[in-house]
Amino acid sequence: MAPFHLFFLLSCAAALIFPSFSRSLEPSFTSKPSRSLAAAPPSPKPGPIQTNGKNFSKVCDPARFKELNLVIDDFAYCDKSLPYEVRVKDLVGRMTLTEKVAQLGDKADGVQRIGLPKYYWWSEALHGIATTGFGTHFGDIVPGATSFPTPILTAASFNESLWKTVAQAISTEGRAMYNLGHSGLTFWSPNINVVRDPRWGRALETPGEDPFMIGVYAINFVRGLQDVEQTAAQQDLTSRPLKVSGCCKHFAAYDLEKWFFEDRHKFDARVTEQDMVETFMRPFEVCVKEGDVSSVMCSFNKINGIPACADTNLMTRTFRDEYKLNGYIVSDCDSLDVIYHVMNWLGDTQEDAIGLDLNCGWGQYNIYQHWGESAVAQGKVRETDIDRALTNLYMVLMRTGFFDNIPAYENLGLADICNKENIELATEAARQGIVLLKNNNTLPLDPKKIKLAALVGPHANATAPMIGNYNGIPCRYTSPLDAIGKDVKVDYQQGCDVLCMNETAFAPAIASAKNADVTIILAGLSLDVEAEERDRMDLLLPGDQTDFINQVAAASKGPVVLVILSGGAVDITFAEINPKIGAIIWAGYPGEEGGQAIADVIFGRYNPAGKLPLTWYKNDYVDALPMTSMQLRPVDEFGYPGRTYKFFNGTVLYPFGYGLSYTVFNYSAINTTTSSLTLEVNTAEFCKPLSYMTKFTAPPCPSLNIADYKCSEEINFEVEVTNTGNMDGYHTALVYSKPPPEVANGPMKQLVAFQRVFVPAKQSAKLNFTVNACKALALVEKTAYIVFPAGKHTIVVGDGPELVSFPVEVKLQI
Ligand SMILES: *[C@@H]1O[C@H](CO)[C@@H](O)[C@H](O)[C@H]1NC(C)=O
Ligand SMILES: *[C@@H]1O[C@H](CO)[C@@H](O)[C@H](O)[C@H]1NC(C)=O
Ligand SMILES: *[C@@H]1O[C@H](CO)[C@@H](O)[C@H](O)[C@H]1NC(C)=O
Ligand SMILES: *[C@@H]1O[C@H](CO)[C@@H](O)[C@H](O)[C@H]1NC(C)=O
Ligand SMILES: *[C@@H]1O[C@H](CO)[C@@H](O)[C@H](O)[C@H]1NC(C)=O
Ligand SMILES: *[C@@H]1O[C@H](CO)[C@@H](O)[C@H](O)[C@H]1NC(C)=O
Ligand SMILES: *[C@@H]1O[C@H](CO)[C@@H](O)[C@H](O)[C@H]1NC(C)=O
Ligand SMILES: *[C@@H]1O[C@H](CO)[C@@H](O)[C@H](O)[C@H]1NC(C)=O
Ligand SMILES: *[C@@H]1O[C@H](CO)[C@@H](O)[C@H](O)[C@H]1NC(C)=O
Repeated sequence: MAPFHLFFLLSCAAALIFPSFSRSLEPSFTSKPSRSLAAAPPSPKPGPIQTNGKNFSKVCDPARFKELNLVIDDFAYCDKSLPYEVRVKDLVGRMTLTEKVAQLGDKADGVQRIGLPKYYWWSEALHGIATTGFGTHFGDIVPGATSFPTPILTAASFNESLWKTVAQAISTEGRAMYNLGHSGLTFWSPNINVVRDPRWGRALETPGEDPFMIGVYAINFVRGLQDVEQTAAQQDLTSRPLKVSGCCKHFAAYDLEKWFFEDRHKFDARVTEQDMVETFMRPFEVCVKEGDVSSVMCSFNKINGIPACADTNLMTRTFRDEYKLNGYIVSDCDSLDVIYHVMNWLGDTQEDAIGLDLNCGWGQYNIYQHWGESAVAQGKVRETDIDRALTNLYMVLMRTGFFDNIPAYENLGLADICNKENIELATEAARQGIVLLKNNNTLPLDPKKIKLAALVGPHANATAPMIGNYNGIPCRYTSPLDAIGKDVKVDYQQGCDVLCMNETAFAPAIASAKNADVTIILAGLSLDVEAEERDRMDLLLPGDQTDFINQVAAASKGPVVLVILSGGAVDITFAEINPKIGAIIWAGYPGEEGGQAIADVIFGRYNPAGKLPLTWYKNDYVDALPMTSMQLRPVDEFGYPGRTYKFFNGTVLYPFGYGLSYTVFNYSAINTTTSSLTLEVNTAEFCKPLSYMTKFTAPPCPSLNIADYKCSEEINFEVEVTNTGNMDGYHTALVYSKPPPEVANGPMKQLVAFQRVFVPAKQSAKLNFTVNACKALALVEKTAYIVFPAGKHTIVVGDGPELVSFPVEVKLQI
């Protein structure tokens, strides 16, 4: 049955049974950013848990139980001497079926009778505590939280410690807001979907297109959110404390919002197992196995006909059995499609229910809470399945200290939100991510030599656009106008807005450029063009922006600097080849302090070192293949080119990993002790065939299935990075592996490691890499086995003119 019919039936039935279903949905959240923090008013002592009008810092507070006329000692779930499993079992065991079912939605009702308060599961922390979700709210005592750059820019820093530090700052603010009764402890971040197609509207929320890099980002971000310093290495994962709980979303093969007749709610992603293993699931695997994330969220789309949220195989077999997820699985929110998915949960086969623990949705979408009880009564769902879901949920809440609090965080409060350090970190994150795309002897500018700067373009005075989506209320904004205006005298003329529908306001901007010593143009995209439920149809700047930039550049007296704000790639070939445009900077959506970071780069206080986490294709790329085609490899039958730097062999504007500096780096030859590896294969059964280029005779054992191998070999090498220029700078060395040339259908290269390093002018730094040979050299062959191919692999460091490489010969001995 089509989803529409299911929805229709459900709505009618629901209206009969639950009169309140006709109630309208709660309003969606919109942020009203304030320019500066209001002074905090003296407040009554707030607290996360309110009971009879009094505030408590934890569930298991004897005074709170007294307030409820209960005696805490009667409740084993509050006995701290017992293991969490025992406490959770006691808690769940006390509930009636009606009470259990009432806890299965993101707004869990609580059970006053047994001392369990309500809990709102939905909070978000993609790049700062967000307004999205019912768990978090701003206003009165908490006017704002630090708004870091959107992930695509922070990712561009390729700096693992930055990723973790930012998440630590976010979780500290989250915990402080929780203490003040303004946030939950469960955050549905990060978004780790692979940007498979450059048109996707949510690229800004992600770390980019490379599954390996996304995985490394996920580990650092999740650990930054979750890890309690002293217990980060704790072996018993089921009781490992959580600073806050993170969530890797949305599994899987999601990245289409709206494209012609397709939309994410009904999109059926036709995906090969090879692409699932190699690309779509890899960040999730790493996020669970190495990040120990405490939650994952399924996506709206179907995967090969099965809704992701009803895919038992994926949820139970992959996440629970194979990855060993230690946490809960939540549905995506607020969609007709969720109903349709969840209808499966209530449908003919109860197996469809296995996996999902929490239903995000409200009003008529709150299926679990409204229908769960009758589903059990009708024998469609076992009550033990509901117990299991509740156990997964309350284990996580126990670990966050919802019941007992975590002493180290009890005193966090207003002073820990929007403080100087966090605002500086937001600026630093943007500085580290900003990518220099072109510099024809133009940057950095010397402010002392500039009497007047023309500051023009849609984003010249950007505020809200700098914080993208899943945003909170920022502490404040430092717009480009604010920051650049502190360095030089500026003549600000916007010229046109992001949509740039016509040329009526161009003239003052052109006049300004004619007059000024230098012209700085801030242009690009915004949520008007790329957002959730909004894919792009092309990769060009919107409306007349290109004309605007060309006209301003043509009229400029002085050098022209173009700054692009965007999440996804933009085809700005026109600017790359325009000799009047001396420099181009990409600044993602740089967060609340973005203007400051941009000024620091333009005036040379910071030497840019970001690298593009996405391929910047030329616009004709999108005419060559539909957004609905999921394959990463080229599809010769339809003439579709490949996707991402791994499989697209055509000409691009800027490749993945591209980014310039104000100085010049060079590598000196690699030192390695690993030039060959000989693996003893115990039995030929572990060998797998591989596809080869024509005329190549396969060796007796073409490749080794790594599932059957210990994989302890390491490849160790050192590279010396020399800053041959005159300015101190940062450099990221990207390390790729290339499969043996005779192997067909493999990636052209794949990222296997990266390191960012500071190198003073005229000095060198040594980078020491150790990579696991299986992880670095393995390929996913066409039937989705992960294999270690025999032959001569290549390790390549760098992708610019400075690259160095060395071969690693792999022999498989039977
Ligand atoms: C409890 O905290 C809330 C804010 O979360 C506040 O509005 C309320 O006044 C506080 N109540 C008491 C009695 O302190
Ligand atoms: C810049 O933007 C801010 C916030 O939107 C606004 O208050 C201010 O007036 C703008 N400045 C100019 C010169 O337009
Ligand atoms: C030109 O664009 C501006 C906003 O960018 C809009 O307000 C105005 O109505 C447009 N004028 C015409 C003639 O379309
Ligand atoms: C770089 O600047 C030189 C000198 O102004 C100019 O001849 C050349 O065309 C410029 N190149 C680009 C790609 O803008
Ligand atoms: C690029 O890939 C396409 C599609 O597989 C192929 O037809 C073409 O020969 C390749 N071009 C080069 C230069 O390798
Ligand atoms: C960079 O290093 C290579 C060898 O690794 C060397 O041939 C080349 O001359 C160096 N270039 C500069 C500018 O130092
Ligand atoms: C490589 O090894 C040689 C000899 O051991 C040593 O002098 C040199 O510093 C090493 N270079 C790097 C980049 O480690
Ligand atoms: C990486 O980020 C951290 C945290 O901001 C910073 O201290 C460090 O200097 C950065 N490293 C490099 C090489 O940029
Ligand atoms: C590089 O790392 C390897 C393995 O961790 C270690 O044996 C070696 O001493 C390191 N070299 C340097 C120069 O730090």
